Amino acid sequence: MKPINVGLLGIGTVGGGVFAVLERNADEIARRAGREIRITAVADRDTERARRLTGGTVKLTDDAFSVTRDLEIDIVVELIGGVGMAKDLALSAIESGKHLVTANKALLAVHGNEIFAAAHRHDVMVAFEAAVAGGIPIIKALREGLSANRIEWVAGIINGTTNFILSEMRDKGLPFDEVLRQAQRLGYAETDPTFDIEGVDAAHKATIMSAIAFGIPMQFDKAHIEGISRLESVDIAYAGQLGYRIKLLGIARKRPEGIELRVHPALVPASRLLANVEGAMNAVLVQADAVGATLYYGKGAGAEPTASAVIADLVDITRLHTADPEHRVPHLAFQPDQVLDVPVLPIEETVTSYYLRMRVLDKSGVLADITRILADSDISIDAMIQREAGEGESQTDIIMLTHQTVEKNAIAAIARIEALDSVQGKVTRLRLETL
Ligand code: HSE
Repeated sequence: MKPINVGLLGIGTVGGGVFAVLERNADEIARRAGREIRITAVADRDTERARRLTGGTVKLTDDAFSVTRDLEIDIVVELIGGVGMAKDLALSAIESGKHLVTANKALLAVHGNEIFAAAHRHDVMVAFEAAVAGGIPIIKALREGLSANRIEWVAGIINGTTNFILSEMRDKGLPFDEVLRQAQRLGYAETDPTFDIEGVDAAHKATIMSAIAFGIPMQFDKAHIEGISRLESVDIAYAGQLGYRIKLLGIARKRPEGIELRVHPALVPASRLLANVEGAMNAVLVQADAVGATLYYGKGAGAEPTASAVIADLVDITRLHTADPEHRVPHLAFQPDQVLDVPVLPIEETVTSYYLRMRVLDKSGVLADITRILADSDISIDAMIQREAGEGESQTDIIMLTHQTVEKNAIAAIARIEALDSVQGKVTRLRLETL
């Protein structure tokens, strides 16, 4: 059978990995796909570097649109990133009748609804395994492996940079800024790390997972996003004393009233497997009604792990591209006319537990005042520690873990606690997920 022709847009780290793995494992991949998968064209701004990486064996251009419109190309792989040019290229490929493989989570989270609608109109596939958790086949698991189930929730460590930073902060007791600088020196964090440390990258991925887990449109603009830049080492240490680790979680949970879609640091019991995912590794835990909990772990970034996901998509498309479009796996796991407009709930409606740290005057009645406010708000305390005040110190820290409550209830109670004369400054509040 004649080979399937692939046009690569961008041959940076991941593109280089795709080229290398496709070449190294060509026979094994062809045995699976049923025919050879061949990169025939590469577009990159740096055509000289592209020539070095490809050995000059493919058509090279700095005009990516010439690849999306190339009549010989069957599949376009978009590895340019961003939501500007990448969107125009994705739509150009789709409108030219090409199948699209993309690792671009921002593109899909922000413009996915438009891109999938265009793909549906033009009877082409859009595959995006590499967009979430790099080499971990979580899209395949959610979209196909778990298709018997009602998925209840998905919670993941889906950003390696922040997980590396949190692991180092806990291991070495260092402050956030210092670990971030170290991560940048080691090449784990970008020079501009904003998207990673402020939770935006994880929110893109959580948005994509929510869509395929629940059969809803992409609703990135409704996601609640908090990063780790304001997290203090002292809270990591207190969480440790209470038997918890702090992780940046991307959570999508289905409730009768709607969907919780949120990214924020959260305490996780140290005994959970997810709490023990360290360094730059990723993991996603899925709770579903029939199978129960399943956990997916692996490298969330890097040239060859990401290439592994991109090439798996190429194999899938190669196998299915002659199938009639109705019999292919739907983009968002559910048939397009079955995608439901379920609302994402405002963060105030989230139901979760809390870690509260407050600086208080070390005098009688303070604890009683605080616990009375919590009791009035129907918030039950699960655990508590009080730091022993040092010699001559008039203030100390109280740390409490609560049982579950609705976030707006917790916010109101915290405002009342902060208004007490005996409570100094703001209460530090972190969510706690028992998973
Ligand atoms: N910047 C991401 C991370 C990898 O740190 O996990 C690509 O999504």
